[in-house]
This record gives sequence, C-alpha cells and structure tokens, in this order.
Amino acid sequence: MEKALNLDLKKILIERKVIQKKVEIIGKEISSDFAGKKLIVIAILKGSVIFFADLIREITVPVEIEFLRISSYGSGAESSGKICLEQEIAVDVTGKNVLIVEDIVDSGNTLKFLLDYFAQKGAQSIRSCVLLDKPSRRVVDIKADYICFEVPDDFIVGYGLDYNQKYRNLPYLAILKKECYIKNDIQ
Ligand code: IMP
Ligand code: MG
Repeated sequence: MEKALNLDLKKILIERKVIQKKVEIIGKEISSDFAGKKLIVIAILKGSVIFFADLIREITVPVEIEFLRISSYGSGAESSGKICLEQEIAVDVTGKNVLIVEDIVDSGNTLKFLLDYFAQKGAQSIRSCVLLDKPSRRVVDIKADYICFEVPDDFIVGYGLDYNQKYRNLPYLAILKKECYIKNDIQ
C-alpha cells in the first residue's frame, strides 16, 4: 500500500486477486444465464467503471456497452437520497436485454431508480449486477440479481469506489477510516 493512502485506510477488505476470481465466476454465471441472447450492459458512472471493464471481459455472449451517469451522494458519505440523472444512455433499449452494472447497493434508492428508468424505456428484461451489497443499510426492499460481495456497514473505497472523488484507483477494496469522512461531513 502506498504510504499516503495507507494513512486513510482502516484495512484492506478484499484483495485484488479475490475480486478477480469472483468477477470471473459472476461473468460465467451471466454468460450461462444469457446463452443464445444478446445483452446491453450499462455501466453506472463513475463508481462501476473498473468493475464493469473487468466484468464484460468475462462475459462470452455478445454485448453492447452503454454508460449512464447518475449521482446520489453529493460530497459526503451519507446518501442525499436525491438521485440526479446526469448523462442519459445514447441508444434505444426497447425490447432489449439490459444488464445494469453498479458499484454498490446501499439504501437501494439508486437501484430502484434504475430499474424504473429502464422499465419506462421499454427494455424486454432488466437484470442488475453489483460489486458490493450493504444489506444492513437498506431503505428500499430490493436485491440485485448478481452480487459479488456482501459488505458490512463501513465506508468502502477502491476498485472504482470513491470518497469525494478520491481512492478510485486503488486496485483493492478497503475500509476508509471513520475520521476521514466524519470530519468532512459535519460542517
Ligand atoms: P444507494 O442509492 O443508497 O443504494 O447508494 C448507491 C450509491 O451510493 C452507490 O452507487 C455509490 O456511489 C454510493 N455509495 C454507497 N455506499 C458507498 C461506500 O461504502 N463507498 C462508496 N460509495 C458508496
Ligand atoms: Mg454509484
């Protein structure tokens, strides 16, 4: 671990190799569930981008990729609950099989919003694949179809996940020290 980053991290939660192995397994599962079909895989920006890049290379059925940018967090560690659609997808998904790729399901508000959004757009099927699931924080009764890891109620960074736009480039998943976000959230 680089020293400057090390100071902000409580511990590494999931090592790079463990993530890779799990992404491989989930990719195989998706490929087998969608055998003979085509998929539009949607990366939810920015948090899912690293997971997404690894995952699509483990999927063996034909895929198209699209990007949708959404924000719910503002700049703190607590969800604002308000979801902003900042960049729409560029294609028509009517009658298509959509696979949403998200970084983490926390309250569930974002995933609920996304499922409604693609249903409204007329997708034929909508599935969701998430890197992390924090079930202890759920507000909306919702569960992703594919989940790589269940995590405790800590603030997680790395492998695409950020705090105030930092730490996305860590190759592993780590728990951010509480003092790193509490001091910023109380203003
Ligand atoms: P939800 O709408 O409350 O489920 O929040 C989902 C979004 O909040 C995710 O897409 C993340 O961007 C962000 N988020 C929730 N928990 C964490 C975390 O532990 N680390 C980094 N981002 C998080
Ligand atoms: Mg996100």
